[in-house]
Amino acid sequence: SRAVKPVVTVAIQNGAKNFSTSPEMLFKVMVAGAAGGIGQPLSLLLKQNPLVSNLALYDLAPVTPGVAVDLSHMDTPAKVEGFKGAENLDSAVKGADVVVIPAGVPRKPGMTRDDLFNTNASIVRDLAECVAKNSPKAIIAIITNPVNSMVPIASEVLKKAGVYDPNRVLGVTTLDVVRASAFIGVINGVDPRTVTVPVIGGHSGVTIIPVLSQANPTPKISDQSKIEALTKRIQEAGTEVVKAKAGGGSATLSMAWAGARLTNAILRGLNGESNVVECAYIKSDLTEASYFANPVQFGKNGVAKNLGYGKLNAYEESLLKEALPELKKNIVTGEKFINK
Ligand code: NAI
Repeated sequence: SRAVKPVVTVAIQNGAKNFSTSPEMLFKVMVAGAAGGIGQPLSLLLKQNPLVSNLALYDLAPVTPGVAVDLSHMDTPAKVEGFKGAENLDSAVKGADVVVIPAGVPRKPGMTRDDLFNTNASIVRDLAECVAKNSPKAIIAIITNPVNSMVPIASEVLKKAGVYDPNRVLGVTTLDVVRASAFIGVINGVDPRTVTVPVIGGHSGVTIIPVLSQANPTPKISDQSKIEALTKRIQEAGTEVVKAKAGGGSATLSMAWAGARLTNAILRGLNGESNVVECAYIKSDLTEASYFANPVQFGKNGVAKNLGYGKLNAYEESLLKEALPELKKNIVTGEKFINK
């Protein structure tokens, strides 16, 4: 049923031209919360993705159909449709290969991500129920905070519906990686796009563990106190934005960038590309926390391989030790919300 774009390649062998065609898959991506601060720029970026044939924009906000009409005037192939209100949710989800969820309230100054739980938990629950009913094979990428608890919520909903596949539900922690790369790029005076650095654990405060010892290039930092200051800055970078926006919300533009990057990795995996790796928060048995973020390889069915987090130095081990109780608590909070 999916659109297939024929790709014509020309190979020159022994001076003779050989024409061969290999199919490139195209996919439907649904964005839930598409009219929001993250949703709009995320949709703008996804409309430019050559692997996207259909973009379904879902939100409760009255502006939703207008956002879709606006984006539909971009001269890129993806077909954009807007779906406003819960009565149109089923249609938005049907046929989706990937469902990206930035729906829900963001932080204001003084708030932690956990303060968002009460409002956002039911939003993610209802969206996951709809995916279970209409598009149970879709890969769900959750941006909504607190991510540490929202992924367990969606997973429990899918379990109850009998359609749970741990390789198809993940939390988006890409912004932590993007921030770490940006900061190291400045410190080292290099293009941040050439920096690789795993950020593991979860997505809030102490559960965010930048593994700076594995960063490439190695951060040009002389002493341990500066390593610790950089670690803290990455952990608190979201709060840096919340404070600077002074009541106007949290990170939206950098988050859209990071969300588009992760969605692209998922799509490249679905398209059969090998060696597509990004950090993501997934079901995991690597630590005593039953969900954990670290580099994963994407494939035709979502997460193809958990690549683990390799060797940590003593400082990073201490961060992990501090993170695990908090992460476990966040996971239980999410699971209890569904199994109460
Ligand atoms: P926003 O308030 O600008 O947009 C949220 C959108 O969700 C609004 O358009 C709203 O109408 C919509 N919405 C609310 N309930 C809905 C429902 N039941 N179904 C569909 N849409 C619904 O908020 P923003 O700034 O876009 O943030 C969204 C979420 O992303 C927040 O929870 C925020 O904490 C989180 N976030 C996550 C990050 C991460 O790294 N994972 C980084 C930054 C923000």
